[in-house]
Amino acid sequence: MPRTAYVNGRYVPHGHAQVGIEDRGYQFADGVYDVVPVVKGAFIDEDWHWERLERGLAELRIDQPVNRKTLSMIAHRIAQRNMIENGIVYVQVTRGEAPRDHKFPTKPVPPALVVTGRHLTMPDDFSQARMIDVITGPDLRWARPDIKSISLLPNVLAKQAAAEAGAYESWLVNANNEITEGSSANAWIVHRDPESGRVILRTHQSDQAILKGIVRTALVALAEKHQWAIEEQPFTVEELMSADEAFQSSSGNMIRPVRTVDGRTIGSGEPGPVVQEILNAFADYVSAQSG
Ligand code: PDD
Repeated sequence: MPRTAYVNGRYVPHGHAQVGIEDRGYQFADGVYDVVPVVKGAFIDEDWHWERLERGLAELRIDQPVNRKTLSMIAHRIAQRNMIENGIVYVQVTRGEAPRDHKFPTKPVPPALVVTGRHLTMPDDFSQARMIDVITGPDLRWARPDIKSISLLPNVLAKQAAAEAGAYESWLVNANNEITEGSSANAWIVHRDPESGRVILRTHQSDQAILKGIVRTALVALAEKHQWAIEEQPFTVEELMSADEAFQSSSGNMIRPVRTVDGRTIGSGEPGPVVQEILNAFADYVSAQSG
């Protein structure tokens, strides 16, 4: 089936979709994007994705190309035209096309909007997730990764380093030897409070140092419902290595338990009981939206 993309007001064959060579996204990575998961034809937590995109645009002072209702309509149309049962819808907005000059165009230009869709193989049951191997590496990104900017070179290099090491993901380490997040996912550990013995989930706080993932947000909400204890604070590489369990969350891959970090097995090397409980609860959460 031929794929269809949306580019600046037109639905076009994916292979012929084009933006100009002076698009500021192409020249300066001057734009933002978002990735909305589609499960059984349903968009998961759709509004949170639009909210984050709108926030990123406001931070960068890029006008919204269309209002939220219209964006949602375009995104659903792309999912339908590409017959996406399971997959993602990708939305990218750049500051538009103008003669190359670092500062914002003096003559206003319309922001450029591209929407594409892609099939992904997803598990029938989200409670059954494959484990992943992770490596660690320096967090070389700019100081505002909370903005979902299309400037992803450090993330690209980190993911490539993982692939070359035979791993799936790189978790990024800041100057304090703490994990911020993965190259394209939020990072979590499960550990026991040494005094009370209580099980605690830990993930970096949602400040300017990480992207506030939508799956992360959903898990924080689920934690409240299930009374899981959460600490939103960083963990060090040493704390990661001695954690009982570890996992990551993202819209592309939902929740993936971590088997090894830099070749060292985390916990038992199998999905641990806490991660399994989270996977079960998350599977129900997704089913409630997708049927
Ligand atoms: N990545 N952190 C980073 C750096 C990410 O790129 C992503 C998502 C996340 C998780 O966010 P969410 O739960 O909203 O997907 C965290 C997307 C999927 C990507 O770039 O393809």
